[in-house]
Amino acid sequence: MKFLVTGATGRLGGKIIEFLAKKLPITDIIAGTTNPTSENAQSLKAQGFEVRKTDFEDQASLVEAFTDIDKVYIVSTFPDVEMAIRQQTNIVEAAKQTGIQQMVYSSAPNADVCDFFLAAHHRERENIIKESGIPYVFVRNNRYVENELGKALASINGAPWVTAAGDGQVGWVSRADLAEATANVLAGNSHENKTYELGGENLAQADFVAVLNEITGKDIQVMHVDDAAFGETLKGKVPEQLASMLAMTQIGIREGKSVNNSTDLEMLLGRKPMTVKEVLQQLLA
Ligand SMILES: NC(=O)c1ccc[n+]([C@@H]2O[C@H](COP(=O)([O-])OP(=O)(O)OC[C@H]3O[C@@H](n4cnc5c(N)ncnc54)[C@H](OP(=O)(O)O)[C@@H]3O)[C@@H](O)[C@H]2O)c1
Repeated sequence: MKFLVTGATGRLGGKIIEFLAKKLPITDIIAGTTNPTSENAQSLKAQGFEVRKTDFEDQASLVEAFTDIDKVYIVSTFPDVEMAIRQQTNIVEAAKQTGIQQMVYSSAPNADVCDFFLAAHHRERENIIKESGIPYVFVRNNRYVENELGKALASINGAPWVTAAGDGQVGWVSRADLAEATANVLAGNSHENKTYELGGENLAQADFVAVLNEITGKDIQVMHVDDAAFGETLKGKVPEQLASMLAMTQIGIREGKSVNNSTDLEMLLGRKPMTVKEVLQQLLA
């Protein structure tokens, strides 16, 4: 059986490839990337992986890459609904033409019902896969602890922890645990047409900062602000589109859209997921 992992030179896809290689012969694992000549792609090649071009905007590249593949992992891309529909249609058409037996897609928490803006493109992508009739597995990834590394480092260096997320909790996860769980799904054979909610420890912003303080011995203060003030803190520091996404993410978290109520991640890992403390300790080591 042959497996293709798209986004294999990305941070999540790269880890999925690593975990898959611990379970399967390397000759059965194909690394998909938009740019097979990149340094990361060449490094995968040097490790023994076959590398193929997989650009979701280029259906022909997908047909070629999916040929002789049984299971394919599809990484999510930028959260734009129009783009998601175009890319997922290309993917599904290529999968139909090449007889893909299973598609594993990394989605977002409660993507089918959640009104969080980040869920919208995932819902479209899930629906397109479901409508294709191709067997699927949806792994709905909660928020990476890694997303907060930049903010954590700035706070360690004296910046306050500014948030508009209030007491909203996030079911924090590490990329490594998500990747291992996804590799287990790909290599396993009892997951057909299942949807897994992959979340970890629920912590609000103040709890997260308390963990950070415990690890670093610092006294980082949490500054709770409203949405307008939060938006102001980002002005000139990040591109406008990203600033808007970050601000909307704070609202979603505040409204409880990132709370985890599932033990799916623990079940797929066969152990407890890493705690926020464990992930932060690794990131800050
Ligand atoms: N749960 C969370 O907290 C969270 C946070 C941020 C993002 N995400 C989502 O999770 C995804 C994976 O996260 P990550 O950390 O691995 O991000 P990442 O390191 O930025 O990787 C994104 C991957 O998307 C691939 N990609 C982009 N455009 C593509 C296209 N047109 N066709 C095929 N592949 C394309 C890239 O492939 P190449 O390297 O081959 O170009 C890259 O490997 C992100 O893309 C995003 O949708 C989730």
